[in-house]
Amino acid sequence: MSAALVVPRSPALGEAMVDIRPAVPGDLPGITALVNEQARRGNLLPRSAQAIANSLADWLVATAGGEVVGCVSLLRYTSGLAEVRSLAVRDEVQGQGVGGRLVRALMAEARRRRTPTLFALTRAVRFFERCGFRVADKSLFPEKVWLDCRRCPVRQRCDETTVVLHLFREEATNDAKKLR
Ligand SMILES: CC(C)(COP(=O)(O)OP(=O)(O)OC[C@H]1O[C@@H](n2cnc3c(N)ncnc32)[C@H](O)[C@@H]1OP(=O)(O)O)[C@@H](O)C(=O)NCCC(=O)NCCS
Repeated sequence: MSAALVVPRSPALGEAMVDIRPAVPGDLPGITALVNEQARRGNLLPRSAQAIANSLADWLVATAGGEVVGCVSLLRYTSGLAEVRSLAVRDEVQGQGVGGRLVRALMAEARRRRTPTLFALTRAVRFFERCGFRVADKSLFPEKVWLDCRRCPVRQRCDETTVVLHLFREEATNDAKKLR
């Protein structure tokens, strides 16, 4: 991945030039590098290329100039619950709406899969609140604790906040607003 990717800082121009789409096998090196760079910084859990390849159908990428500049995955726990996982945007394009677009695209995918509830564990609470999520108690998501938290090296001093979004409740509220 080149370090010299130039993407305009203007949100409008940035939106036009950054494409959001389902991941394909050619995106694997870019996704792996992006996620693991953020893991090195302590922002995400590391993911192996093999683990990403095995779950590729659950990943979305943001691309610019043919390179992966953002990614996110949808991890299904049950038919009713999925996690927004491994959300990352390359430093050069942060603050231009790419992260928000990735989360909204993932919300659309979760709706398509009829998954009603999304959650995330994050330090970017304000970012998620702006996407419609609300802060929730982690104890509401024992599935996450069982899968990841018990293996996490910083579980005793976790500073992440759980955020949740009920997709169809939001849809119902929006429909109600439209009818007023
Ligand atoms: C979080 C992240 C994906 C946001 O991507 P982005 O493309 O910059 O997001 P957008 O441009 O859509 O939104 C930017 C807004 O989110 C806010 N935001 C970004 N990171 C934040 C953080 N760690 N905490 C709180 N708010 C944050 C910005 O302050 C900005 O708000 P503003 O418009 O009021 O200034 C990106 O900062 C990132 O990759 N961070 C490192 C990995 C990470 O923490 N992932 C989340 C783990 S669940």
